Amino acid sequence: MEYRIFESTDELALACADIFTALLKEKPNAVLGLATGASPVKTYKELIRRYKAGEISFAGVTTFNLDEYCDLPKDDKNSYYTFMHENLFDHVDIKEENTHLMDGNAADPEAEAAAFDAMIEQAGGVDIQLLGVGRNGHIGFNEPADHFTEGSFKVKLNDSTIEANSIYFDENPMPRYALTMGIGTIMKAGKIVLIATGKKKAEAIRNAVKGEVTPRCPVSVLQNHPDALLLLDREAASLL
Ligand code: F6R
Repeated sequence: MEYRIFESTDELALACADIFTALLKEKPNAVLGLATGASPVKTYKELIRRYKAGEISFAGVTTFNLDEYCDLPKDDKNSYYTFMHENLFDHVDIKEENTHLMDGNAADPEAEAAAFDAMIEQAGGVDIQLLGVGRNGHIGFNEPADHFTEGSFKVKLNDSTIEANSIYFDENPMPRYALTMGIGTIMKAGKIVLIATGKKKAEAIRNAVKGEVTPRCPVSVLQNHPDALLLLDREAASLL
């Protein structure tokens, strides 16, 4: 597992956008695995800027998102569907039918998750998967557990995640469940790029890089991926 440390989150976002730009130029019909949350926002802004400047196009791109909350209307302001539209999809030339998020309100969540994994396979697999990391080491919503998960599934969010993400929920209570790509799904991506910034991520990053590979710290599994890159600011890298 490789890591790079940046002096600012702006520089980090430019480097991350460069990785996606290179892929889109080489493979206009690339399959992207995308994340929500604070970590990728600046990267998405830079990709939108490059699209508007005529440097890149998403016209042939297919996307699959890591996760989606359960029991939240699709168009709720806090759904990941809304997040992706506001932060990327509505501002570039991607085709709506080529963007995929799991339906957190599906009547049969396990069937929904299995169908999602099948769609990824059908699309030829994810070329680059973008990740953030939770303070507790989660990737997607794979929380610390006794074993690594395989395919996508419905998960009960743990207290640390609920506390971290509650800040976004001022009206409705934060959902307690989500659908997430499994660790096995994430690990199938050709390349993985993870963004971590700020002191609150330092411990997870230390465990990811220097700790043993353990499902108690899910991000540590990236040590087993042949092409995983961590993009860090000084604070997130402060315990390395
Ligand atoms: C988001 C996701 C989560 C976040 C993580 C970090 O789709 O799967 O694993 O990446 O919780 O969140 P931020 O970036 O808000 O610190």
